[in-house]
Amino acid sequence: MNLVVVSNRVSRGKPNEPMTGGLAAALLPIVEKSGAIWVGSSGRVRDGNQKEPFAEVEALGAGALAMLDLPAAHYGGYYEGFANSALWPALHSRADLIRASQDDYLSYREVNAFMARALLRFRKPDSAFWIQDYHFLALGAELRDLGVAQPIGFFLHTPWPSRSVISGVPHHSELIEAMLAYDLIGFQTDEDCENFLSYAQADLGLVVHDGVIISRYGRTRAAVFPIGIDPQQFAQLAAKASTHPDVSRLRRSLNGEKLAIGVDRLDYSKGLINRIKAFDRMWTLHPSLARTASLLQIATPSRGAIEAYGNLQSEVAKLVSDVNGQHGEVDWTPIRYLNKGYGQAVLAGLYRAAQVGVVTPLQDGMNLVAKEYVAAQNPVDPGVLVLSKFAGAANELDTALLVNPHDIDGMARTIALALSMPLTERRMRWEAMMAKLRGQTIQQWFSDFTDALRESRHYSVELAPVMTEPALWPLRSATTGGVRYH
Ligand code: F6P
Repeated sequence: MNLVVVSNRVSRGKPNEPMTGGLAAALLPIVEKSGAIWVGSSGRVRDGNQKEPFAEVEALGAGALAMLDLPAAHYGGYYEGFANSALWPALHSRADLIRASQDDYLSYREVNAFMARALLRFRKPDSAFWIQDYHFLALGAELRDLGVAQPIGFFLHTPWPSRSVISGVPHHSELIEAMLAYDLIGFQTDEDCENFLSYAQADLGLVVHDGVIISRYGRTRAAVFPIGIDPQQFAQLAAKASTHPDVSRLRRSLNGEKLAIGVDRLDYSKGLINRIKAFDRMWTLHPSLARTASLLQIATPSRGAIEAYGNLQSEVAKLVSDVNGQHGEVDWTPIRYLNKGYGQAVLAGLYRAAQVGVVTPLQDGMNLVAKEYVAAQNPVDPGVLVLSKFAGAANELDTALLVNPHDIDGMARTIALALSMPLTERRMRWEAMMAKLRGQTIQQWFSDFTDALRESRHYSVELAPVMTEPALWPLRSATTGGVRYH
């Protein structure tokens, strides 16, 4: 099978380049090893109506990376607009933050259609397409409209919310109908998958049986594929990173003080405000932890052109400064706050230098930082993971200290507990988490999904001819002005 993987963001695989987000970090090793073609945005835009979309193609391990310049007229409406101001807040159950204009939606559909046209040049008779994430919900339908009959799968890296929340997205039914062009749709957790199936059944009125949705496209299977990491490779990276200058400078600066670490994109779903409030509360409740335990919070700037992100950046910066002003001493800073990204090679070393990893999102698809923190630990003296029960990772890493990120006092108590946990308990919890990571690696995720995709296409096509009545109708109304009958 010739696999074409598609995502908005790609990574060029330079070990010291900062990596934004879990998706790019996760896909990189599998593209390098499997020989797939990975197609995504170059981060640049281009004017005019390109007949042949411009792509820069380079080798990536055994595979290749193709970076496309997206259309300038639609990029903002697609990325900052519909994808990150309508879909992202809805997918993270923040319906109050949904902002989307009709133009944004049209741009989103245009970019999906543009990507579909660009993908044709990578198509071979035995190709399969694997589309990643919420930027490309309608890409499968666009490919089918262009006559692509090969298997097309989709994996959602974020959560999928309840029916009432997703219904807050303008054009939700049209978009979700379009998703049924996929043969296989993968989710991170059972809850995400159930929410999706229940929308298909109750809101679209479709037949759903045993995780399979029947529509005019044939069958779409929805299933759960929790994404993993390569724990062995990450552990090696962490062991090697101890000599990295940033890591050794950090260790030296600690003077025996304990360290908690948080590494997140600066995003409202990550729960940064509540986390910092929890540390504030902890130093108030346990004054003995002042000077003996501090927080290193790396918050990589993200989507700065969107108002909600700009506001968050100022709010977090102010809170950090208030807390440092309140608890700091002439020779002690409680929170070291950094607004920049780090490469995997340094991050692995920073995780290993920290006795506690704090991963406390309000909602998160999986959260690979949680998994990487665990994999980076020194087996003879591992740190403790404090993990939100609303991160997908909590389903597997259930021997972490699970917290409710809305309960500031509870988090403060749990972080204090983590900082003083005895070695035997730390090892017991860590070993159980490592066993889970070893059982569900990124390689396993890749082969589980691609095997299931092959099988799903087979069943989907087999059923298609027996469908007499189309269940759902042309999905092009918004972009073309065509009529919708549904
Ligand atoms: O899971 C969602 C995701 O695709 C992750 O890769 C990452 O956390 C984020 O979104 C990437 O965001 P952006 O590409 O907008 O920086």
